[in-house]
Amino acid sequence: MTLAIDEARLSWEIDALAAFSDAEAPAVTRVVFTPTDLRARAWTKERCEEAGLAVRADAVGNTFARWEGSALDAPVVGTGSHIDAIPNAGRYDGVVGVLGGLEAIRALQRSGFRPKHSIELLVFTSEEPTRFGIGCLGSRLLAGTLSAETAKKLADSDGAPLDEVRSKAGFAGELEAVKLPAGYYKAFVELHIEQGPLLEKQNVPLGVVTRIAAPASMRVLLEGSGGHAGGVLMPDRRDALCAAAELILAIENAARGSGAIDTVATVGICDVFPGAVNSIPSRVRLSVDVRDTNLERRDGVMRLIDAAARGIAAKRQVSIQTEMLNADAPADSGLAIVEALSQACRKYGFEFLSMTSRAYHDSLFISRIAPVAMLFIPCRGGYSHRPDEYASPGDIARGALVLAETLAMLAE
Ligand code: GLV
Ligand code: MN
Ligand code: MN
Repeated sequence: MTLAIDEARLSWEIDALAAFSDAEAPAVTRVVFTPTDLRARAWTKERCEEAGLAVRADAVGNTFARWEGSALDAPVVGTGSHIDAIPNAGRYDGVVGVLGGLEAIRALQRSGFRPKHSIELLVFTSEEPTRFGIGCLGSRLLAGTLSAETAKKLADSDGAPLDEVRSKAGFAGELEAVKLPAGYYKAFVELHIEQGPLLEKQNVPLGVVTRIAAPASMRVLLEGSGGHAGGVLMPDRRDALCAAAELILAIENAARGSGAIDTVATVGICDVFPGAVNSIPSRVRLSVDVRDTNLERRDGVMRLIDAAARGIAAKRQVSIQTEMLNADAPADSGLAIVEALSQACRKYGFEFLSMTSRAYHDSLFISRIAPVAMLFIPCRGGYSHRPDEYASPGDIARGALVLAETLAMLAE
């Protein structure tokens, strides 16, 4: 079997998908179930159909493109990622795993390979938490770690319920039916940009992921007292934004003080009400994202944040309510898939690093029901979730080649 990746076509497709965006290029914004996301999904589906794959979507819009294997009832070998993009993002996060996965399948088809296990490309719905507040919505439902009942309570920031938004987007059926049957996958492999600097710094072209760090996030609502910026004297103030500022720094200190470089904490949203220059902030909403490779340490940081919130609330006479949105365990990769990826790298003489993914991915949740592993390619400066995110066509093609080889090993 001789595999060849069509690097020019893959690059062109990545650029073409980037044009479906609600931000001005080079930024990409593609939030789940917006008209732009739906047009990007339709375009991606066409590319899959062009490759002769049978495409189906489930009730939440997870999209499966299947290359039927000769053993019809054998468990599936899966690959894929997401095409939704956070506001002001780049064009490679997720997309490399979807279009690179598609090109890997096409390369296998061109080589004359015939899979025994069906190979499926999966485009997950809403890996990004932008719209419904929780990341990996589609994969959580597929794995059953999020129940349909809890998912039905999700709504976007305009109050539109997930159920209404998804059916308007054309995805009907019961959310209960999204969960995959036990034993559906033989293996799942996700190709992704590293979203960190290690591969580039060490000048190594590939990373085989052996562990995915544990993410947690919460929403914090601070309520104080508003009023006139001239009239209310300083001793009488209960300024919600000043309380939030203290809490944000306490969150930073909790992560910095954990004793481990692997602990990270971010406050990425700070909504201030009423948001007027001459009005004391009465209400602030924060989002908090905490991650660690070690679950106990991550949870310890979450407890410190809670304690800091209680202390600041008492000291400043403001109300601070925290709501945990998710607190997930880390995942270890499946040894057989790590071995297949390593063997594929060795076959082509590509050096690789064994590494931890600090970002979360849909593979984290698929790991709850199947063996998974991920393949990382470098991205310039380690930049991701910003418009200058960049992976070179050569690095992407190399990743797709190793993915194709790995899929072949797993599917024969
Ligand atoms: C994924 O986008 C993450 O935030 O890790
Ligand atoms: Mn992302
Ligand atoms: Mn991603």
